[in-house]
Amino acid sequence: MQSLVLAGGKGIRLRPVTLHTPKPIVPIANTPLLFYQLELLRRGGVRDVVLSLSYQPHKIEDRIGDGSHVNIRVSYAVETSPLGTAGAFKNGAHLINETAVVLNGDILTDVDLEDVIRFHKDAGAAATIVLSPVPNPTGYGLVVTDAEHRVLRFIEKPKPEEITCDTINAGIYILEPKLLDYIPEGEPFTFEYGLFPKLVKMGEIVMGFVSHGYWRDIGTPESYLQANLDVIAGRVKLLDPPVFVSGDKFDSDIHIDSTSLIDPSCTVKPGVHIVNSVISRNCYIEERAHIENSLIRSASRIGTGASVSGALIGKGCHVGKAVNIGAGSVLGDKSVVTDYGRI
Ligand code: GDD
Ligand code: MG
Repeated sequence: MQSLVLAGGKGIRLRPVTLHTPKPIVPIANTPLLFYQLELLRRGGVRDVVLSLSYQPHKIEDRIGDGSHVNIRVSYAVETSPLGTAGAFKNGAHLINETAVVLNGDILTDVDLEDVIRFHKDAGAAATIVLSPVPNPTGYGLVVTDAEHRVLRFIEKPKPEEITCDTINAGIYILEPKLLDYIPEGEPFTFEYGLFPKLVKMGEIVMGFVSHGYWRDIGTPESYLQANLDVIAGRVKLLDPPVFVSGDKFDSDIHIDSTSLIDPSCTVKPGVHIVNSVISRNCYIEERAHIENSLIRSASRIGTGASVSGALIGKGCHVGKAVNIGAGSVLGDKSVVTDYGRI
């Protein structure tokens, strides 16, 4: 089974996280998002993956390489300018010659792809779209199905009055190669506004597979932070549990709860409290700092007595002494908050 991962978006809604790190490789619990996706695909029986890139492609190629370290063959299709989701699939078509799993590169999920592939084949579908129920579908593609799970309507970013169900496009598709004939060559075209509504209209068999597993689009700072917290809480059944560093590694006067994930390269000084948080490589946490429900990216320093709660701190930040950073705060890479600052 082959796969194409759509990993070319600019990640605009996830700025400033994506200014220097393209969205597909932002770390979730200290592991790049794409590694979770490659693991999902490998478990689903996929052995060949095409990464469809456009924004900062070299950073992704450098991080993922040929995929040999995760037992999957990775090749690349790079667009000179973004072609949209379906255009990107067409652009990678020369590398695909069979039924393919196509995945949005910004989702974290543990859906069982083998189930989806079986469902697709049994239905004799041209396309199967994995659906996830969400409380508010307005930010997604709304997918309406009939009682036999056949897709009746696909409405991207529906207006509130268009919402008649709670199932949305989870950004996971099983697609037959013949669908490439519906996608124009070399010009922008999307699955969401172009291909899927067209297929439904043409009477092609498009099926919806409702998944009740873990699913999240990590494309906003709030969602990205929550994805990190979900992984450390064990809500995503995917990779082996991350290696936690318990309080034992550090001084007895340091309090680290059992869900927090702290890279062993970090320095943590006495009197520090860390609760339900992820701390990446080479961070320096000064005396009596208090960190909870937060993500601190690599090489950041949290000053003496500072408090960081519900926040996302970028790479190489300097948070001064006695600073108070509250819920919803997002610091870009290399931010400096001077002593006693409040955010
Ligand atoms: N290669 C390439 N080229 N990839 C692209 C392009 C492009 O021109 N445009 C977008 N992508 C990639 C993004 O990197 C992302 O991984 C994926 O396609 C989806 O794009 P988003 O910009 O994140 O779309 P969205 O989140 O607003 O909506 C999409 O995802 C929702 C689920 O998370 C749609 O597919 C919705 O229907 C869906 O519900
Ligand atoms: Mg998205």
